[in-house]
Amino acid sequence: MKDIQNIVILTGAGISAESGVATFRGPDGLWEGHRVEDVATPEAFARDSDLVQKFYDERRAQLATVAPNAAHLALAELEAKWPGDLLLITQNVDDLHDRAGSQKLLHMHGELSSAWCLACDGRSPFTGQMALDPACPQCDQFGHLRPDIVWFGEMPYQMERIELALTQCDLFVSIGTSGAVYPAAGFVQSARHYGAETLEMNLDPSEGSFHFHQSRMGRAGELVPAWVEEILSHGLC
Ligand code: OAD
Repeated sequence: MKDIQNIVILTGAGISAESGVATFRGPDGLWEGHRVEDVATPEAFARDSDLVQKFYDERRAQLATVAPNAAHLALAELEAKWPGDLLLITQNVDDLHDRAGSQKLLHMHGELSSAWCLACDGRSPFTGQMALDPACPQCDQFGHLRPDIVWFGEMPYQMERIELALTQCDLFVSIGTSGAVYPAAGFVQSARHYGAETLEMNLDPSEGSFHFHQSRMGRAGELVPAWVEEILSHGLC
């Protein structure tokens, strides 16, 4: 096992499941009762902005009813104690990593608690209901806010920074993601290409499970704290 200094961690909906946030791909193939293409595409927003705004307003309101679980807290502890570099990339639009205390954190698919104004292009912290067409906190214009969320067909945020981190990491860890959505699903192959060790922790094997050197199957709330304790005491994955 080589010396590990730089860690990149990718998380998906599975890490928030034990906090009570629904994953995207339930057994019925629906996300909280909706087809993804009805609520998570620019076309859906153009067709029925009210439906899309209400859908994300509900998800945003739900944040007040959930709390970080042991897996979020363990990753924040790892960041605080790890002597090398660490970058946490989440596909999740909830704020549970932020509330757990992670700071070296990047929301590649955007955030429920951020509003993007299509009039002034500004982004502002947001906790209310966009379906009520509130004014943009920056330009004061009404009716131009949309969820600051990356929808299908749109470019994930901070890809240059992510790609650089993947070339430099010694260990890539994927937690609670089905590996169904690119580019995130391809990060394991990039990291391996540049020489990283790779570890997956998920309830069941992801679509790209065979790309990982090591897979641990189970609940994130149990696997992640155990792994963090392990790596902090031995420096090994
Ligand atoms: P998915 O819903 O596709 O996958 C969640 C994964 O977490 C599944 O493989 C589950 O088996 C696993 N899982 C569930 N409970 C778990 C637990 N307690 N512990 C560990 N693993 C558990 O969610 P994502 O992979 O995050 O994109 O989805 C990726 C992207 O697709 C999302 O960011 C979103 C979505 O469409 C956009 O909105 C752009």
